[in-house]
Amino acid sequence: MKKSRTPMEKRAIYPGSFDPITNGHVDIILRGEKLFPHILIAVLENPKKKTLFSTAERIKIIREIFKDHSHIEVRAFRGLLVEFAKKHYARIVIRGLRAVSDFEYEFQMALMNKKINPTVETIFMMPSVKYTFLSSSLVKEVFALGGCVSDLVPLVVEKRLHEKFQKLK
Ligand code: PNS
Repeated sequence: MKKSRTPMEKRAIYPGSFDPITNGHVDIILRGEKLFPHILIAVLENPKKKTLFSTAERIKIIREIFKDHSHIEVRAFRGLLVEFAKKHYARIVIRGLRAVSDFEYEFQMALMNKKINPTVETIFMMPSVKYTFLSSSLVKEVFALGGCVSDLVPLVVEKRLHEKFQKLK
């Protein structure tokens, strides 16, 4: 979809590390697409942060999951999120809120983003209750210790985890 077709106030950004994307993230994106005609999934590229999957790998995985969703776009970003939002004509930032423990960090981030760019609005969405315990770090830990993650991540992620850990052995 061309940028000009969707008004700024309807273009949403869903930022995150997505290392890897989980069913909790997918749930938020699927809910988000019922509210916003265009969602830009912004994958954090942070050279200082060690990730299991490279930025290119994370992007490839997410693109594969949403290949049939023409109004979902996936891009890497670095630097300030609100600058990236501005560059891509988006005013809404979607964040998932799983539990009270997420609140403080999310609250700080939303207020800081608002301070830097008052035109950007953060919207919090709750994932389905079955995903409230889920995080990318726990998925990696469970998988690394031989646990089953098939209910927790899309099939493509499970396959990539197998490949990745095979290589790391
Ligand atoms: O999935 P995550 O790791 O919780 O996502 C965190 C993310 C990427 C949303 C956050 O780290 C971020 O926005 N980073 C960009 C840097 C930035 O804009 N910082 C100022 C706002 S606090």
